[in-house]
Amino acid sequence: MADTTTPMPPTLTATSETPVQTTPPLSIPPGFKLHVENTAQILLPDTADAFLNPVQEFNRDLSVACIRTWSDDMNAKRKAVWEAKLLSRKEGTAKGKGKTKRAAEDVDETDEPESKKVKIIESSTSEPANSMDVDDATVATTAAVLDPPPEKVEPIIKSEEFRPSKITILEALSATGLRSIRYAKEIPLVKYVIANDLSPAATAAMRRNVELNGLGPSTATTSGPSQPGEDLGKVRINEGDACDLMYSHRPERLRVDVVDLDPYGTAAPFIDAAVQSIKDDGLLCVTCTDMTVLASGNYPEKCFSNYGGIPTKTEYCHESALRLVLHTLSTSAARYGRFITPLLSLSIDFYVRLFVKVRTAPIEVKKAMTKTAVYHVCQSCQAFTEEPLGRIVERTNGDKVNLLYKTTPSAPSSDTCVECGGKLHVAGPMWSGPIHDPTFVKQVLEHVNENSSNYGTHARMKGMLTVASEELDTPFYFTPAKVASHFHCECPSLDDTASAILNGGYKISRSHACAGSLKSDAPQAFIHDLMRTWILDHPVRMDKIKDEASKTLLNKPIGTTADFTRHPGLEAISNKIKLVRYQVNPQPNWGPGARPDSKKKNKGGAAAE
Ligand SMILES: C[S@@+](CC[C@H](N)C(=O)[O-])C[C@H]1O[C@@H](n2cnc3c(N)ncnc32)[C@H](O)[C@@H]1O
Ligand SMILES: [Zn+2]
Repeated sequence: MADTTTPMPPTLTATSETPVQTTPPLSIPPGFKLHVENTAQILLPDTADAFLNPVQEFNRDLSVACIRTWSDDMNAKRKAVWEAKLLSRKEGTAKGKGKTKRAAEDVDETDEPESKKVKIIESSTSEPANSMDVDDATVATTAAVLDPPPEKVEPIIKSEEFRPSKITILEALSATGLRSIRYAKEIPLVKYVIANDLSPAATAAMRRNVELNGLGPSTATTSGPSQPGEDLGKVRINEGDACDLMYSHRPERLRVDVVDLDPYGTAAPFIDAAVQSIKDDGLLCVTCTDMTVLASGNYPEKCFSNYGGIPTKTEYCHESALRLVLHTLSTSAARYGRFITPLLSLSIDFYVRLFVKVRTAPIEVKKAMTKTAVYHVCQSCQAFTEEPLGRIVERTNGDKVNLLYKTTPSAPSSDTCVECGGKLHVAGPMWSGPIHDPTFVKQVLEHVNENSSNYGTHARMKGMLTVASEELDTPFYFTPAKVASHFHCECPSLDDTASAILNGGYKISRSHACAGSLKSDAPQAFIHDLMRTWILDHPVRMDKIKDEASKTLLNKPIGTTADFTRHPGLEAISNKIKLVRYQVNPQPNWGPGARPDSKKKNKGGAAAE
């Protein structure tokens, strides 16, 4: 193939936050084709040695938006602490408080680990030996908290400015480096990204691509901190095993702000290393594409070995897949005195993508068992009961409240469903707490609304994020179509069903995980009564009903009569959003994509894992 001159990729709109990226004119070497995604351009060998799945653009767009939002939020919180300290120092000085005591108090107020506190104090008196080791904002904060001589207080405070923290990102399984390149170009305040892959073909591709995007030097091969005066570039390539690399970042001073796991299939083998290599309040981003294991009843043994829980074989299997991955993250972090806070957990097309915050706090670790449950799931009507693994009992002793951690009495009194008489099967244990932080999701949504032109998949992002931000905490969801199928009746519309639930005094939301689904805190018995009330006006031919479970459901008397009058609250459950929320088929034979060496077997380039 002859060299070809190619137009440049679109540049980002210049805003105060987004740096404009300029790229020199480009000629494509023989044997390569150019792939452009947002600000990044990469060369793909015609032989397809390194893995790229263009369908994952949505995953990468979402990740850029989430990491930006998390980084902005983290800096906003640090700024608030910094300002409060500055103010208290001003007030303290005005009241003539002692210099030494003030400085000591301020340093102790930080929630930085002990080793870092020592480092902070040292960094204020001497240049750090290695500039990469000391967090910029912390240095600025330290400069602010150390008291100058009393007569110089006011001028120094006025000249102080908050310097936001720069972040380090570790992409453990990078393939072509496309994701790392986008992070380096599109996320302000990135100090550097470590792009790692085991495959020499992948790291060779990364080197080419990093250089092509002006993020070199292309010879950089180390993921560690640079020596003074040494420039390792903004994307640093490492060739090696992902776990080895992450374990090498386990010591507190070497931890990174963000770890991204985007493997073939399951992320399970990488999670133990990942939860240990992240700074406190850092962000862990995880993809799993093994939905045949996570979201079907076909491989319970595999799901248990990878995630420590059993999946559900139901229409809500995509939400239970998310909860199984969260369970793995939670229990893995707990082993090291750390806990997770899910920020956003999405089931998308053929994979799940989760963003969780990781923090060290033994008291929160104790609560993990109360956010974990097994579910008893009916194989016929899919009704379920939740059985938490633990509970907290408060004991008051004078002014003191002690928390006791207890097991729970077993919930089901029989092995058959109270609704239809079907067989109950156990699923889990899995995460039973919230799967998103609505405040965070709304912040990401706001960011995407303000920067739509920066994201090729912004329409779908807005739709997914809108639904996720409104989702009820409660597990799981259902579709009126599925429930109606158990009754063999005509299906009530979403609006009819939602109105009846709201009129019954229960809450309702959509679920991002399934088109046409609803989430509610209404008991299953109420949903079934709703369907029985519906059937009064939409009769069922009983002589056609063959299966016992359906006969039982239909023959039960109505406990609570449902009211289908249109409820004004419907407006609030994003019924009117006509944005792209669910799966859009972007190319023929799409899916998780195949490993490079199996490409020949899957000519379409998209194969089930
Ligand atoms: C799905 S691809 C990554 C795609 C990439 N994150 C993106 O957004 O384009 C998975 C990559 O993981 C690499 N890999 C598999 N096992 C690994 C391991 N143990 N350590 C490091 N890399 C590994 C493979 O070589 C492959 O390039
Ligand atoms: Zn049942």
